[in-house]
Amino acid sequence: MWGIIDKALDKFKDNSTFEDLILEVKKKEIPTHVAFIMDGNGRWAKRRGLPRSAGHQAGVKILKEIVKISKELGIKYITTYAFSTENWKRPEKEVNFLMKLFEKVFLEELEKLNQEGVKVNIIGYKERLPQGVKDKVEQAMERTKNNDTLVLNIALDYGGRSEIIESVRNIGKSLIDSEISLEDIDEKLISQGLYTNQQPDPDLLIRPGGEKRISNFLLWQLAYTELYFTDVYWPDFNKVAFLEVIKDYQQRERRFGGLKKK
Ligand code: IPE
Ligand code: IPE
Ligand code: MG
Repeated sequence: MWGIIDKALDKFKDNSTFEDLILEVKKKEIPTHVAFIMDGNGRWAKRRGLPRSAGHQAGVKILKEIVKISKELGIKYITTYAFSTENWKRPEKEVNFLMKLFEKVFLEELEKLNQEGVKVNIIGYKERLPQGVKDKVEQAMERTKNNDTLVLNIALDYGGRSEIIESVRNIGKSLIDSEISLEDIDEKLISQGLYTNQQPDPDLLIRPGGEKRISNFLLWQLAYTELYFTDVYWPDFNKVAFLEVIKDYQQRERRFGGLKKK
């Protein structure tokens, strides 16, 4: 059930090289900001008779591949959903495993990401994360804060609704303190209160794993994002698949409520 990705992989095997594919994609507009809901890790593992944790581990490898190719393509922002505010509902064992995994990945990958000019930005509540993860997260953000090749937003304990509530609360406070008036509340002000403040909205959202929903991800920011859903599980996603999705994106016409360009 790979759809266009599957067909593309066949074609790729026969008569073109990966470099040809990159060149083809680079001829057209590259999205500035791409968001990913990294889903399907557990089912990927189950299909192989492995524990769910193996799926999460395999998923990290794909994220690294995606960051690398994104840099090569000149993508400026990647936002990736690693743990939602709803994921705390999972069994304690899985939550603990994931937290340990996040800690380990930040520790192991930080220097490399920094050398590559990646700015790591954690979006989410943060307060509820275990101290070890919080420390690594702060360290990663601090160490990479001056980088500007690629911004990597990692959504950890992230929920779109909580994010909007936080922005609205801050606005309410400014209103009470008479720092702003009612007329000052507009899209810009609400956006400024979000974790993605100063960043452009995603051009493209990719959700592997077969589900066709947003699962509380970037609710405000996705207003005009192009959506791409695929049945491929996240650990089976790869850079070739990513390039094929970008090719699909490049054929779309983004009208933003206006009319087709003549
Ligand atoms: C996504 O994969 C990773 C996280 C939510 C942390 P899942 O763990 O949701 O995998 P499935 O959807 O159960 O296959
Ligand atoms: C979304 O996946 C969250 C992450 C990928 C981190 P879920 O697996 O939690 O989403 P639902 O429960 O299927 O909507
Ligand atoms: Mg899932």
